[in-house]
Amino acid sequence: MLNIGLLGLGHVGQGVLRILLENADLIKERVGQALCVKSIGVRSPEKYQNLNLGGATLTTDIDSMLLDPELHIIVEVMGGEEPAYTYICKALKQGKYVVTANKEVVAKHKKTFFELAKTQQVDIYFEAAVAGGIPIIRSLKVGYAANKIQSLTGILNGTTNYILSKIEEEEKEFNEVLQTAQNLGLAEADPSMDITGLDAAYKLVILAAVAFKADIQLNDLDYEGIESIGLKDIQYAKELGYRIKLLALSKRYDDNRMSFGVYPTMIPEQHLLASVREELNAVYIVGNAVGDSLITGKGAGGSPTGSAIVSDIMDIAFDSTKKLSRRNLETNCQAVQILDSQELESQFYMRLIIADHPRVLEKLTGILGHYDVSIAKLIQKESHNSVAELVIVTYEVKEKNMQQAIHTLKKAPEVHRFLTYIRVKDLV
Ligand code: HSE
Repeated sequence: MLNIGLLGLGHVGQGVLRILLENADLIKERVGQALCVKSIGVRSPEKYQNLNLGGATLTTDIDSMLLDPELHIIVEVMGGEEPAYTYICKALKQGKYVVTANKEVVAKHKKTFFELAKTQQVDIYFEAAVAGGIPIIRSLKVGYAANKIQSLTGILNGTTNYILSKIEEEEKEFNEVLQTAQNLGLAEADPSMDITGLDAAYKLVILAAVAFKADIQLNDLDYEGIESIGLKDIQYAKELGYRIKLLALSKRYDDNRMSFGVYPTMIPEQHLLASVREELNAVYIVGNAVGDSLITGKGAGGSPTGSAIVSDIMDIAFDSTKKLSRRNLETNCQAVQILDSQELESQFYMRLIIADHPRVLEKLTGILGHYDVSIAKLIQKESHNSVAELVIVTYEVKEKNMQQAIHTLKKAPEVHRFLTYIRVKDLV
């Protein structure tokens, strides 16, 4: 029997317990031994008296729990950087395998964990930290192992994908949809990590290590959220044949340099990622052997995330010889040359409120032209009180030129309000 110590008993911890109990027979048959949660570290044991713990003991003494020689695997589902970081280090130093769902701690401390695991001849598993129930880490390690990954593009945050889908479907504004999502329990009470793009950025840092063996940090990438996206942007996107998605983008160029970033992005409505709606996550991979490939599924919630954790535990059980698995490519992740994000090229969509007078368009297109920004599409609908809404889609332009042009447009007296800009990508 393999004994498990669980740190945390929120939605995800309870999902793990439930799956281990409900699927106990199936799991035992597949791995050849029983997997048993022996102890659970929590802050307030009284909160869980009515739960079926399957015989596990609740404890507040996590330091003693981590020293228990009968525990083979520590499952960390507390979230946040501390005390999770300290507990994971202690568990690895004790020669225990670790399974975690914690994207922040893995993104920030992966190298320390990989080195500790190597020294101790154990391993750390983190399938649940990225895209919840989608087996993306294992797919990259095993299923796509024959490929040089050329690009990886993810919808890695369910909350923002849900909000963007509902703005379009229900024709409501961002704040109203966010409020409904919070009432339904689909968005956190504090959704700031999700809507600012930080949650997706942590996940991209982890995927970079697995897909590209790239040791990048959060400050190696730019990330933007969806706070400024309005119903009108989504409607204009539709009119132009696009959908807006919060994308985590990563790409390897022919000279082996790489780019990483998280941005709300317009993509063609026919693209596979455009059909990923509501709270679903998805990862779109282009590999030099497999070609284009999409994996999609639920990225959050106790049961989908629990599914990923229990699969990790089973993987450890399969490999009970205690040898480091050679398919863990990311343990050798190295520094890579990252392209300056200001040099990256993209088309851009912009929406502005402008004065509707003679020569205004001439002035604005002059500003764009000054920065070598060329216009591909321009929409101006009816104007009211000499004020008009203008939508511009540019041809491909360098980020630095576009940012300078936007800066100048924002200061132009003819621009009453600069509402939004969104990158437009064909993803080919
Ligand atoms: N809050 C995240 C999401 C799930 O909305 O996708 C946990 O990473």
